[in-house]
Amino acid sequence: MATLERITFVNKLGLFLCVPQMCGCSYSTSSQRNSQFYTDPTDAVKDIPSGATILVGGFGLCGIPENLINSLLKTGVKSLTAVSNNAGGSELAVRVFLPSSRLQAMVPSSRRAAPPSNTTRTELSPSPVNRERKTARNFNQPMCKAAKVTIVEVEEVVDVGTFAEEDIHIPSIYIHRIIKGGSYEKRIERRTVQKAQAEKPKPKKDSDIVRERIIRRAALEFEDGMYANLGIGIPMLASNFIQPDITVHLQSENGILGLGPYPTEDEVDADLINAGKETVTVLPGASYFSSDESFAMIRGGHINLTMLGAMQVSKMGDLANWMIPGKMVKGMGGAMDLVASAGTKVVVTMEHSAKGGKHKILDTCNLPLTGKQCVDRIITEKAVFDVDKTKGLTLIEVWEGLTLEDIKACTGAHFAVSPNVRSMQQV
Ligand SMILES: *[C@@H]1O[C@H](CO)[C@@H](O)[C@H](O)[C@H]1NC(C)=O
Ligand SMILES: *[C@@H]1O[C@H](CO)[C@@H](O)[C@H](O)[C@H]1NC(C)=O
Repeated sequence: MATLERITFVNKLGLFLCVPQMCGCSYSTSSQRNSQFYTDPTDAVKDIPSGATILVGGFGLCGIPENLINSLLKTGVKSLTAVSNNAGGSELAVRVFLPSSRLQAMVPSSRRAAPPSNTTRTELSPSPVNRERKTARNFNQPMCKAAKVTIVEVEEVVDVGTFAEEDIHIPSIYIHRIIKGGSYEKRIERRTVQKAQAEKPKPKKDSDIVRERIIRRAALEFEDGMYANLGIGIPMLASNFIQPDITVHLQSENGILGLGPYPTEDEVDADLINAGKETVTVLPGASYFSSDESFAMIRGGHINLTMLGAMQVSKMGDLANWMIPGKMVKGMGGAMDLVASAGTKVVVTMEHSAKGGKHKILDTCNLPLTGKQCVDRIITEKAVFDVDKTKGLTLIEVWEGLTLEDIKACTGAHFAVSPNVRSMQQV
């Protein structure tokens, strides 16, 4: 049994002796453990037997061991159990595991339990010298710890001592095989860049006007010093309107604290993406970590604010935002964790009604829940409600020009009206 993982940080394994082009055979580094160096990635994976459990590091296409995956394709191995993040959508699933009968089971990251400790796995990882691997390092550490065999694919092999001891984040004890991969594609799933100001037209379509209104209200939720996790779409866009006199630390589930704006064309980096697989930047003082660390922050209640979209919200704050029965589902991802901590304020940003005018704010949700009694506030293009998890909804803001009757008509749950109800605020 063996697992594949890509270790992005392998270039950080300063423990290896200088290994310019090793001869592809077993090589022992000074007093370190025996780690085998390979020149042909196929040799590094050819003994992975059918039925093996393979753990793969990386996140989406970011940080996956490209050459080892390609080699695994050639070995004819079958009935693998794969543990990987975003297994459903990733290249890995599509190219390696789904064709033929290679895959017996896929354990997606949304089932975030630690892999069984008696499984064997191989890690594959590319890593550049003198360059941080940013979010590409995701899942490498936990995968290494759980594996019996770790195969690492690196971008470069460097002399012992090149890296400061404190910069090494995978000690050599975890590594069994190493391959220096070649010709990395480093594909980007969602290349997202800042538009130049001139290119940004005023919203014209009704749907854009609605979105902009929600975004400009959502931005008022930010307070100085907050740690916040923002969903893709409206919540993330709201961060463009954070007032310049306050500091908000944005967290991304795939392992960033201190997220910056989208990159310019010149700044795009395949190794730096957010949880939505979009290319991003970081601000001075930012840090990188793995998703397991990220969820420790989230579950531990250290995040002050989470804003996310919803399909339905009940008057007691139940949230449904992950699946419609019968439709293809990718998994609820981190949302279930983000709404699980009492210490985190949960703000839902969504359009008031679904297509065809169906209610989304309801007495009881009829879609599968992401969390129960977890929502604190609902922001739509028509109104803002506070949610008391035992008493229900209170209307606190209404969009100018709409009446109480209008709001009642488009809301599928009874609500109280705050004595201080005011018109909907905007940045
Ligand atoms: C792992 O351990 C469990 C429980 O001890 C055992 O049932 C299973 O067969 C083991 N799997 C492997 C691959 O050794
Ligand atoms: C954020 O949460 C921490 C507790 O985890 C709290 O001490 C701090 O005051 C909060 N900050 C803001 C701005 O809400």
